[in-house]
Amino acid sequence: MRGIILSGGAATRLRPCTKVTSKQLLPIYNRPMIYYPLNTLIKAGIKEILIIVAPERAGDYLNLLGSGKEFGVKFTYEIQDQPAGIAEAFIIGENFIDEDNVTLILGDNIFEDDLSEEIKNFRKGGKVFAKKVPDPERFGVVKFDENGKAQKIVEKPKEWLSDYAVTGLYVYDNKVVKIAKNLKPSGRGELEITDINSIYLEKKELEVAIVNGEWIDAGTFDSLLRAQNLAKKKLQNKLVI
Ligand code: G1P
Repeated sequence: MRGIILSGGAATRLRPCTKVTSKQLLPIYNRPMIYYPLNTLIKAGIKEILIIVAPERAGDYLNLLGSGKEFGVKFTYEIQDQPAGIAEAFIIGENFIDEDNVTLILGDNIFEDDLSEEIKNFRKGGKVFAKKVPDPERFGVVKFDENGKAQKIVEKPKEWLSDYAVTGLYVYDNKVVKIAKNLKPSGRGELEITDINSIYLEKKELEVAIVNGEWIDAGTFDSLLRAQNLAKKKLQNKLVI
Protein backbone atom coordinates (compact mmCIF):
# COMPACT_ATOMS: atom_id res chain seq x y z
CA MET A 1 0.00 0.00 0.00
CA ARG A 2 1.28 3.44 -0.95
CA GLY A 3 0.01 6.71 0.49
CA ILE A 4 -0.72 10.08 -1.07
CA ILE A 5 -1.48 13.33 0.71
CA LEU A 6 -3.06 15.90 -1.58
CA SER A 7 -2.10 19.26 -0.15
CA GLY A 8 -2.51 21.66 -3.06
CA GLY A 9 -4.99 24.46 -3.72
CA ALA A 10 -5.00 28.17 -2.98
CA ALA A 11 -7.46 28.16 -0.03
CA THR A 12 -8.91 31.53 -0.94
CA ARG A 13 -11.67 31.00 1.65
CA LEU A 14 -9.04 31.31 4.38
CA ARG A 15 -7.51 34.61 3.23
CA PRO A 16 -5.60 36.49 4.59
CA CYS A 17 -4.22 33.55 6.62
CA THR A 18 -3.33 31.68 3.42
CA LYS A 19 -1.82 34.64 1.55
CA VAL A 20 1.76 33.65 2.34
CA THR A 21 1.39 30.03 3.39
CA SER A 22 -0.59 26.93 2.57
CA LYS A 23 -3.82 26.04 4.39
CA GLN A 24 -2.46 22.62 5.28
CA LEU A 25 0.50 24.22 7.10
CA LEU A 26 -1.66 26.37 9.38
CA PRO A 27 -1.54 25.28 13.03
CA ILE A 28 -4.17 22.94 14.41
CA TYR A 29 -3.47 23.41 18.11
CA ASN A 30 0.20 22.39 18.45
CA ARG A 31 0.94 20.88 15.05
CA PRO A 32 0.73 21.92 11.40
CA MET A 33 -2.54 20.69 9.88
CA ILE A 34 -0.85 18.18 7.55
CA TYR A 35 0.53 16.25 10.56
CA TYR A 36 -2.98 14.91 11.24
CA PRO A 37 -3.58 13.20 7.86
CA LEU A 38 0.06 12.14 7.95
CA ASN A 39 -0.64 10.44 11.26
CA THR A 40 -3.53 8.55 9.70
CA LEU A 41 -1.22 7.12 7.00
CA ILE A 42 1.78 6.41 9.24
CA LYS A 43 -0.39 4.67 11.86
CA ALA A 44 -1.71 2.42 9.09
CA GLY A 45 1.86 1.28 8.47
CA ILE A 46 2.30 3.08 5.14
CA LYS A 47 5.99 3.78 4.56
CA GLU A 48 6.05 5.36 1.08
CA ILE A 49 4.15 8.64 0.98
CA LEU A 50 3.73 11.06 -1.91
CA ILE A 51 2.97 14.65 -0.93
CA ILE A 52 1.35 16.69 -3.72
CA VAL A 53 1.66 20.45 -3.26
CA ALA A 54 1.02 23.74 -5.06
CA PRO A 55 4.13 25.14 -6.82
CA GLU A 56 4.41 28.34 -4.72
CA ARG A 57 4.50 26.34 -1.47
CA ALA A 58 6.78 23.42 -2.35
CA GLY A 59 9.78 24.86 -0.49
CA ASP A 60 7.79 25.23 2.73
CA TYR A 61 6.78 21.56 2.67
CA LEU A 62 10.35 20.42 2.03
CA ASN A 63 11.60 22.56 4.92
CA LEU A 64 8.95 21.26 7.28
CA LEU A 65 8.81 17.57 6.40
CA GLY A 66 12.12 16.76 4.67
CA SER A 67 12.90 13.23 3.58
CA GLY A 68 10.59 11.51 6.04
CA LYS A 69 13.47 9.86 7.90
CA GLU A 70 12.49 11.69 11.07
CA PHE A 71 9.10 9.94 10.91
CA GLY A 72 10.42 6.53 9.82
CA VAL A 73 8.95 6.84 6.31
CA LYS A 74 9.99 8.04 2.86
CA PHE A 75 8.46 11.14 1.29
CA THR A 76 8.26 11.89 -2.41
CA TYR A 77 7.04 15.29 -3.61
CA GLU A 78 5.12 16.30 -6.73
CA ILE A 79 3.59 19.56 -7.90
CA GLN A 80 -0.06 20.12 -8.80
CA ASP A 81 0.14 23.16 -11.10
CA GLN A 82 -3.57 24.06 -10.87
CA PRO A 83 -6.27 22.90 -8.46
CA ALA A 84 -7.62 20.59 -11.17
CA GLY A 85 -9.35 18.11 -8.89
CA ILE A 86 -8.66 15.41 -6.34
CA ALA A 87 -8.70 12.62 -8.92
CA GLU A 88 -5.70 14.21 -10.66
CA ALA A 89 -3.59 12.94 -7.74
CA PHE A 90 -3.63 9.48 -9.35
CA ILE A 91 -2.35 10.84 -12.66
CA ILE A 92 0.36 12.95 -11.00
CA GLY A 93 1.18 9.94 -8.82
CA GLU A 94 1.15 7.29 -11.55
CA ASN A 95 4.87 6.47 -11.40
CA PHE A 96 4.92 6.62 -7.62
CA ILE A 97 1.95 4.24 -7.28
CA ASP A 98 3.52 1.83 -9.78
CA GLU A 99 1.68 -1.49 -9.36
CA ASP A 100 0.54 -1.04 -5.76
CA ASN A 101 -2.74 -0.22 -4.06
CA VAL A 102 -3.07 3.35 -2.85
CA THR A 103 -4.60 5.34 0.01
CA LEU A 104 -5.28 9.00 -0.67
CA ILE A 105 -5.99 11.46 2.10
CA LEU A 106 -6.67 15.18 1.78
CA GLY A 107 -4.24 17.44 3.64
CA ASP A 108 -7.07 19.25 5.42
CA ASN A 109 -9.01 16.19 6.65
CA ILE A 110 -8.80 15.36 10.34
CA PHE A 111 -10.17 12.12 11.77
CA GLU A 112 -10.70 11.25 15.42
CA ASP A 113 -10.98 7.52 14.67
CA ASP A 114 -8.02 5.24 14.18
CA LEU A 115 -8.70 3.85 10.70
CA SER A 116 -5.51 1.76 10.50
CA GLU A 117 -7.26 -1.62 10.41
CA GLU A 118 -9.70 -0.44 7.73
CA ILE A 119 -6.73 0.52 5.56
CA LYS A 120 -4.65 -2.57 6.39
CA ASN A 121 -7.54 -4.95 5.66
CA PHE A 122 -8.19 -3.52 2.21
CA ARG A 123 -7.73 -6.02 -0.63
CA LYS A 124 -9.39 -4.83 -3.86
CA GLY A 125 -11.86 -2.44 -5.45
CA GLY A 126 -12.38 0.83 -3.60
CA LYS A 127 -13.16 1.80 -0.04
CA VAL A 128 -14.46 5.16 1.16
CA PHE A 129 -15.53 6.49 4.55
CA ALA A 130 -18.84 8.27 5.15
CA LYS A 131 -19.89 10.47 8.04
CA LYS A 132 -23.27 11.92 8.98
CA VAL A 133 -23.03 15.71 8.82
CA PRO A 134 -25.37 18.70 9.26
CA ASP A 135 -24.18 20.35 6.01
CA PRO A 136 -24.03 17.60 3.33
CA GLU A 137 -24.33 20.11 0.46
CA ARG A 138 -20.64 21.02 1.05
CA PHE A 139 -19.43 17.51 0.18
CA GLY A 140 -19.67 14.42 -1.97
CA VAL A 141 -22.79 12.69 -0.62
CA VAL A 142 -23.66 8.99 -0.52
CA LYS A 143 -27.22 7.68 -0.57
CA PHE A 144 -27.92 4.28 0.99
CA ASP A 145 -30.83 1.96 0.14
CA GLU A 146 -33.10 0.41 2.80
CA ASN A 147 -30.55 -2.38 3.38
CA GLY A 148 -27.78 0.12 4.07
CA LYS A 149 -26.05 -0.52 0.74
CA ALA A 150 -24.58 2.46 -1.08
CA GLN A 151 -26.81 3.34 -4.03
CA LYS A 152 -25.30 6.48 -5.49
CA ILE A 153 -22.74 9.19 -4.82
CA VAL A 154 -23.23 12.79 -5.93
CA GLU A 155 -20.80 15.70 -5.64
CA LYS A 156 -22.30 18.66 -3.73
CA PRO A 157 -25.94 17.84 -4.54
CA LYS A 158 -28.22 20.88 -4.94
CA GLU A 159 -31.23 18.92 -3.72
CA TRP A 160 -31.01 16.99 -0.46
CA LEU A 161 -30.02 13.37 -1.06
CA SER A 162 -28.71 12.07 2.26
CA ASP A 163 -26.89 13.37 5.35
CA TYR A 164 -23.83 11.19 4.73
CA ALA A 165 -20.74 12.99 3.41
CA VAL A 166 -17.91 11.08 1.75
CA THR A 167 -14.81 12.05 3.72
CA GLY A 168 -11.43 12.82 2.22
CA LEU A 169 -9.87 9.37 2.77
CA TYR A 170 -9.97 6.96 -0.16
CA VAL A 171 -8.45 3.49 -0.62
CA TYR A 172 -8.23 1.93 -4.09
CA ASP A 173 -6.64 -0.90 -5.96
CA ASN A 174 -4.25 -0.15 -8.81
CA LYS A 175 -7.07 0.18 -11.36
CA VAL A 176 -7.68 3.70 -10.05
CA VAL A 177 -4.82 5.07 -12.16
CA LYS A 178 -6.43 3.94 -15.39
CA ILE A 179 -9.86 5.15 -14.24
CA ALA A 180 -8.47 8.59 -13.38
CA LYS A 181 -6.77 8.89 -16.77
CA ASN A 182 -10.10 8.32 -18.54
CA LEU A 183 -12.08 10.93 -16.57
CA LYS A 184 -13.42 14.11 -18.16
CA PRO A 185 -13.42 17.39 -16.17
CA SER A 186 -16.71 18.24 -14.45
CA GLY A 187 -18.75 21.44 -14.73
CA ARG A 188 -16.39 23.10 -12.23
CA GLY A 189 -13.43 22.07 -14.40
CA GLU A 190 -12.09 19.39 -12.03
CA LEU A 191 -11.36 15.69 -12.25
CA GLU A 192 -13.80 14.56 -9.58
CA ILE A 193 -13.06 11.91 -6.99
CA THR A 194 -16.83 11.39 -6.88
CA ASP A 195 -16.69 10.18 -10.51
CA ILE A 196 -14.07 7.58 -9.56
CA ASN A 197 -16.23 6.42 -6.65
CA SER A 198 -19.30 6.22 -8.90
CA ILE A 199 -17.39 4.01 -11.35
CA TYR A 200 -16.35 1.59 -8.58
CA LEU A 201 -19.91 1.69 -7.22
CA GLU A 202 -21.43 0.81 -10.62
CA LYS A 203 -19.10 -2.20 -10.80
CA LYS A 204 -20.22 -3.16 -7.27
CA GLU A 205 -16.63 -2.83 -6.12
CA LEU A 206 -17.04 0.07 -3.69
CA GLU A 207 -17.20 -0.47 0.03
CA VAL A 208 -18.54 2.40 2.15
CA ALA A 209 -17.52 2.32 5.82
CA ILE A 210 -19.10 4.60 8.41
CA VAL A 211 -16.91 6.91 10.49
CA ASN A 212 -18.10 7.00 14.12
CA GLY A 213 -15.77 9.57 15.64
CA GLU A 214 -15.46 13.20 14.66
CA TRP A 215 -14.33 14.15 11.16
CA ILE A 216 -13.42 17.64 10.06
CA ASP A 217 -12.63 19.12 6.65
CA ALA A 218 -10.74 22.15 7.96
CA GLY A 219 -11.38 24.33 4.92
CA THR A 220 -13.34 27.17 6.56
CA PHE A 221 -12.65 29.37 9.59
CA ASP A 222 -15.40 27.66 11.59
CA SER A 223 -14.23 24.15 10.81
CA LEU A 224 -10.65 25.26 11.55
CA LEU A 225 -11.76 26.32 15.01
CA ARG A 226 -13.59 23.01 15.57
CA ALA A 227 -10.44 21.18 14.46
CA GLN A 228 -8.34 23.10 17.00
CA ASN A 229 -10.66 22.00 19.80
CA LEU A 230 -10.81 18.40 18.62
CA ALA A 231 -7.01 18.30 18.45
CA LYS A 232 -6.57 19.70 21.95
CA LYS A 233 -9.30 17.70 23.66
CA LYS A 234 -9.18 14.32 21.95
CA LEU A 235 -6.22 13.80 19.63
CA GLN A 236 -3.11 14.64 21.61
CA ASN A 237 -2.53 11.17 23.10
CA LYS A 238 -3.34 9.40 19.81
CA LEU A 239 -0.73 11.03 17.60
CA VAL A 240 2.41 9.14 16.59
CA ILE A 241 4.17 12.15 15.07
C1 G1P B 1 -13.78 17.37 -1.73
C2 G1P B 1 -14.52 16.32 -2.53
C3 G1P B 1 -15.79 15.88 -1.79
C4 G1P B 1 -15.43 15.41 -0.39
C5 G1P B 1 -14.60 16.48 0.35
C6 G1P B 1 -14.07 15.92 1.66
O1 G1P B 1 -14.52 18.55 -1.67
O2 G1P B 1 -14.82 16.85 -3.83
O3 G1P B 1 -16.41 14.83 -2.50
O4 G1P B 1 -16.62 15.14 0.32
O5 G1P B 1 -13.48 16.89 -0.43
O6 G1P B 1 -13.32 16.85 2.38
P1 G1P B 1 -13.81 19.97 -1.99
O7 G1P B 1 -12.67 20.06 -1.03
O8 G1P B 1 -13.40 19.94 -3.41
O9 G1P B 1 -14.89 20.99 -1.71
